[in-house]
Amino acid sequence: MNTPTEISNPSAIQRASWKDSLKRALQAQPRLWSGYWRTKQQIRRVLLLRFFLYDIRHTLKAMYWGEGQADRVTLAARLLFNYHKLEKGMVMPGPRRMFGVEPALAVIILCRLWIATGRPRSDPVFIGAIETLAAYARRLQESALDLSGIVLPKVLAFLNEVPERSAQLITPQPLPTSRVPGLGADGTSFTELALARRSVREFQSEPVPANILTRAAEAAQLAPSACNRQPCRLLIVSTDEEKQALLAHQNGNRGFGHLAPQVAILTADEGCFFDASERHEPYIDGGLFAMNFILSLRDQGVGSCCLNWCVPPATDLAVHRLFNIPQSQRIIMLVAIGFEPPDCMVPRSPRRATSDVLLFYKN
Ligand SMILES: Cc1cc2nc3c(=O)[nH]c(=O)nc-3n(C[C@H](O)[C@H](O)[C@H](O)COP(=O)(O)O)c2cc1C
Repeated sequence: MNTPTEISNPSAIQRASWKDSLKRALQAQPRLWSGYWRTKQQIRRVLLLRFFLYDIRHTLKAMYWGEGQADRVTLAARLLFNYHKLEKGMVMPGPRRMFGVEPALAVIILCRLWIATGRPRSDPVFIGAIETLAAYARRLQESALDLSGIVLPKVLAFLNEVPERSAQLITPQPLPTSRVPGLGADGTSFTELALARRSVREFQSEPVPANILTRAAEAAQLAPSACNRQPCRLLIVSTDEEKQALLAHQNGNRGFGHLAPQVAILTADEGCFFDASERHEPYIDGGLFAMNFILSLRDQGVGSCCLNWCVPPATDLAVHRLFNIPQSQRIIMLVAIGFEPPDCMVPRSPRRATSDVLLFYKN
């Protein structure tokens, strides 16, 4: 990245003039010049491979869960993944059949690991697991699904050992029909809210209060995620110095990024996913999470602008180090956040015709 310090550096100037003279000499010879140009393009193409190599390294390190990898995020993801199967099984229509033996046993093992490694037993992920096991046991009993006692005795024995329960986490539950307080609380429909959200590139200096950010994060948490593993995190950067250090690594915020009182780093933890077949999940979950986050900000009167994280591996690594972000967390995007001024202008950003986007399949 060309920083002002590099430009005012005498050795950088010398290097630039040496390159310029070489370029001029080559340009004088058309065949040499086209050869040089072709070679340069090929080298560039080969160098692009480093992006893919970086991804492979990341995936190998974070996605293959070994026994030793029982950190909180990964353990929670494994637990959620397994009891989500039980939760799903309990809401499936159709005749009742035995289901969920393997996931139920896995949940018991993972809960024991949770307890043995001193994880908080008040954590909703843990209590959710217990409530799910309790509901699963009730289902097996009510529908007489486990007559040969394959799994029910083990589940009941485990439930006797753990007293933790929460009425709020009882599963399954009826589909919520009322709106979540705060989402569209002023009576706007979702479409109106979607229409009102635009990328804002002008901000007032006043920071967005923590309660608004918290509410937006809560809305983001309501976004769907693959097997409910919830890999996303938001890191809010607020001081001028830290924002500057962050935004210097991003190429799409010039001219306005510095005005945003807060910038969020949205990450998704690859440790929540099994293997390379799930390599895109962090980005999919991250995109859905981001959408809920920025819509909720809009709903609460706050502007935002997503900022791409299309950076070379070295930049990605540098920002991970700068903000102590664990390597397993992929940076999905940054989000510039702030109240826009009353006369704020936004680009028209026209959309494609809906007929180009929505197609009804006919054979
Ligand atoms: C993942 C993502 C990355 C983006 N990166 C940038 C960026 O770096 N700089 C910028 O000014 N806008 C950025 N945008 C905003 C888009 O330009 C904007 O969403 C698009 O033009 C549509 O306009 P609207 O958001 O006002 O509806 C980004 C949007 C997304 C979803």
